[in-house]
Amino acid sequence: MNILLVLLRLIHIVGAFAWVGLGGAMSFYIIPATVAAGETGFRYMKSLFTQPGFAMIFPSVSGITTLAGILLYLVGDAASHFSQTGNIVLGIGAISGLAAAIHGGAVLGRTSRTVGQTVVQLGSALSDADKTQLNELTLKLLTQSRHSLILMVVALVCMGSARYL
Ligand code: HEM
Repeated sequence: MNILLVLLRLIHIVGAFAWVGLGGAMSFYIIPATVAAGETGFRYMKSLFTQPGFAMIFPSVSGITTLAGILLYLVGDAASHFSQTGNIVLGIGAISGLAAAIHGGAVLGRTSRTVGQTVVQLGSALSDADKTQLNELTLKLLTQSRHSLILMVVALVCMGSARYL
């Protein structure tokens, strides 16, 4: 039994599980509830963004999943234990997974940092202009997190099914 391959696959699958789970929770529940709650939601976001490690959780799980995935390609010899169709589908999944990582770093991550910096500076009273700016920023974060989730789900479905094709 190739221990390295088993470990890489385990790290990859657990990382992917955490990444998709966190992305789903943010896209379907946490951000929509923040928008619906208005000022209270923005104050909740302040508490969320000041939680230790919150700012690093997405870069960490997406980085670990992607690195393990790339290493699986390099050392896992997927071509030998997936059919031709399986390898094509695995490839589509890998491209979608890479796109999710790049989008997460270059687009969603930037908006998330802007939201974090803005909510952390929230004073005791919010002007209407503050609320409008935060609402626009949070809706932008919601749209981008859903785009990222779609890419992750395509990766999950493709990779989860590749071995059976
Ligand atoms: C959101 C992103 C991703 C998710 C949810 C995901 C999910 C998965 C899952 C569930 C498997 C296990 C399939 C099985 O054993 O039947 C898998 C395997 C694999 N993934 Fe990913 N993955 C993602 C990103 C990536 C990326 C970016 C790459 C590489 C560039 C990659 C490369 C691989 C490879 C090569 C395997 C096959 C390993 C083997 O059995 O030899 N994955 N992935």
